Amino acid sequence: MIITAKPFLKWAGGKGQLLEQIDNFLPKELKNRTITRYIEPFIGSGAVFLYLAKSYKIEEFFILDVNEELILAYKTIQKNVEKLIVFLDDLQNQYLLLDEDKRKEFYYQIRSHFNFQREKIDFEKYNREWIERTAQLIFLNRTCFNGLFRVNNQGDFNVPMGKYKNPLICNSENLRAIAQILQRTQIHCGDFTDCEQWANDKTFIYFDPPYRPISKTSDFTSYSKYNFGDSEQLRLRDFFNRLNDKNAKLMLSNSDPKNEDPMMIFLK
Ligand SMILES: C[S@@+](CC[C@H](N)C(=O)[O-])C[C@H]1O[C@@H](n2cnc3c(N)ncnc32)[C@H](O)[C@@H]1O
Repeated sequence: MIITAKPFLKWAGGKGQLLEQIDNFLPKELKNRTITRYIEPFIGSGAVFLYLAKSYKIEEFFILDVNEELILAYKTIQKNVEKLIVFLDDLQNQYLLLDEDKRKEFYYQIRSHFNFQREKIDFEKYNREWIERTAQLIFLNRTCFNGLFRVNNQGDFNVPMGKYKNPLICNSENLRAIAQILQRTQIHCGDFTDCEQWANDKTFIYFDPPYRPISKTSDFTSYSKYNFGDSEQLRLRDFFNRLNDKNAKLMLSNSDPKNEDPMMIFLK
């Protein structure tokens, strides 16, 4: 059975609109099935991962991100999607019944609860609280301004409410389809370099890091409390070269900031 799954979160830099273009650059070894493993170390909403899982025969998947809320959500979907659907459906039903003012109150209540609970959450070990937290994360993502995930220096989610008349908050079928793919996926919270241990010559790795801002005003690198500045870009370059030496197949997206500043060739 072909499973069609799409991202369950809106995510800055999500690649959902670029899949056709990305497909043109995929290694031919994916098509002739000599690649058996896929790694995506900056998983975000996982648009490319879910597309590949649907379109190519790949045996195993490894997904990583430094954002612990995001990784907790993937692991919850993997472990108990049905319970999650019950929680999320309940949030959706409560929300959609309210008028505009009450919706606002409800949104900010959930956001405060989400931030308040953070200290108490064990991000390492799966437990029942993960289900409520993931439901709240999806709820906030579906109802907040622009579907942005942004946290302040303390790690508090601080995006204001968005304006949607009838947002689809709980897409049960999609969550179940993702859960199925996640059954053959290892999910890891950490730095992109942690994936080195899984890379070999039968592996395809797609890197989609926070882009280097092309101008001082187009800066969105705050997916988490960790920033991704120039030293991270250089660390990524060195890591990319290292994995290339292991004969893994590699693909990377980034901006081309030398357009603005010709001296920026040091990243090449
Ligand atoms: C451009 S987004 C990826 C978007 C993804 N391709 C999609 O379709 O949604 C970059 C991701 O890198 C993650 N990230 C930032 N620094 C990282 C690091 N040092 N190691 C691993 N992931 C990191 C961010 O949390 C964010 O989810």
